[in-house]
This record gives sequence, C-alpha cells and structure tokens, in this order.
Amino acid sequence: MQVFVTRRIPREGLAALSQAGVCSIQQWDSDEPIPRSELLAGVAGKHGLLCLLSDRIDKEVLDAAGSNLKIISTLSVGVDHLALEEIKKRGIRVGYTPDILTDATAELSVALLLATCRRLPESVEEVKNGGWTTWKPLWMCGYGLSDSTVGIIGLGRIVPLAKLAEESDFVAVTCSLTPDTKGMCNKDFFSRMKKTSVFINTSRGAVVNQEDLYQALVSGQIAAAGLDVTTPEPLPTDHPLLSLKNCVILPHIGSATYATRSAMSVLSANNLLAGLKGESMPSELQL
Ligand code: DGY
Repeated sequence: MQVFVTRRIPREGLAALSQAGVCSIQQWDSDEPIPRSELLAGVAGKHGLLCLLSDRIDKEVLDAAGSNLKIISTLSVGVDHLALEEIKKRGIRVGYTPDILTDATAELSVALLLATCRRLPESVEEVKNGGWTTWKPLWMCGYGLSDSTVGIIGLGRIVPLAKLAEESDFVAVTCSLTPDTKGMCNKDFFSRMKKTSVFINTSRGAVVNQEDLYQALVSGQIAAAGLDVTTPEPLPTDHPLLSLKNCVILPHIGSATYATRSAMSVLSANNLLAGLKGESMPSELQL
C-alpha cells in the first residue's frame, strides 16, 4: 500500500509509519506547505493520506486521489479543513488527534490570556524602545485574573452565549469550527461584553468575525484581545489587527511543545496504519 505525507513531521511519527512495514511512503519533505499542484499529484493512486490542518482536503483532492484512497489521517484535533460529507460519501475513514494536545493548548490559552490582560508584549516593547523612563503609578496597568469571571466557549451547552458575553471578565474561545460556530463572535456578541473584558481565541480564526473584533477593540467596546488563530493564517503583516496595541497575536502555537507534537505525529501514524490494516483506529472520527 502507498501513503502520501503532506509535510515534514516529527521523526517519531515518521519512524512509526516507516518501521511498521505496512506501506511505502511518499512525502513532501519540507517545513513549508505543499503547493496545491504537488498535493494533487502526490495523492494520486494512494491508499492513505497523512495531512495537516493547513491542507484543504476537498473534492478536488479526493478526485485526484481516486478510488484507492481509503484512509485520511490528520495531524490535528480540528477537522474543519476536511470535506467531511464528501469523505463520508466515498467511504473513506478519518483519524485525528484529540486529547493529547489538550494540556499544551490549555497552557498556551492561560499564557496568552495573562500576556494580553497584563500587556506583556507592549511592556517588553517599552523596555526595548526607551519608553521605560521610571516607575509610574498609572503606567502599563491592565486587568487582573483574581476574583474575575471567566467564560469559556467550548465547555458545552451550559450557558447561553449572550449571558456568557455579558457576565464574563474574560472570554476564552476553545470550541471547534463548525457551520454553527462560524462567525459566532460578532458585533452583537462584542457589544454585550463589558468594556473592561478581555477576549481570547485559541480555537479557529473563523469562529470570530475579525472586522467586528477590530471595531470592538478600536472603539473601546472591549479592553483587549489575544488570538492564537486568525483568518487567514498566516495573517498578512499589514493586517489592521496588527496595528493595535490592545491585540496580542500568536502564530497558532497552541499545541507547540516538542512532546505534544511528537505524540500527535505518532498517533496520526498509528491511526493511518490501523486504517490501512482494516483495524479499529486509536482515534477515529465518527462520520
Ligand atoms: C489542532 O490540532 O487542530 C490544533 O489547532 C493544533 O494546534
């Protein structure tokens, strides 16, 4: 059997795949994304595909792969880059990597929240550019976490969204991107938040209407935002959000610890191998 791997992945994952003796591997061996034309050519005739969240696996890719393709294993917990209806129609099974990146992403969410509310990037910049002239009672003040209310979008259907927006001092978005959550944090949502509230997103950029977020930040409707995910990714360096001091933007590094990325690569390799062998996968998406 033949598989296509769309990027350079941690060596533990590649070793698991190659040492199993189940398949031959063709790989786009680069840290940079595979060009679309190479992806279309690479998947042709393959039985398995190991892809990343940055690869759009749509009808065109599935058509290019042809009827041999039986397993798609994504090195991610998010599956919004996969055309799931089309995949299901073709009887293709999907593996993904839930749970093992939860701790790393939770840590990053807290780090981003504190960096945003206590204005860390702005403060570091002031030290570098000579803005730090002396200790000043009113300088670089932010909002503290102690005694605050934190609203988490993604814990389940526990609190109506409007109530969460109205009552939280911090709003953290951690839910999946689905047709239901797309654009969910919009003008109406931000207008319900307190002017002193801080907004954090570590899920997917498209859950947020970025134009509405920009307006909310510029007009003082909310105090600050910290984003680990944006639309598009990467965010163009001249994007208006990057001009705001009260917006901290990271390059989608929620799961970026060495151990987590290694575990994700091994799980995605094992999902692919199990699928190729017709066995149950360690983590199969129920379609
Ligand atoms: C995922 O796996 O979907 C995450 O966004 C990666 O950090």
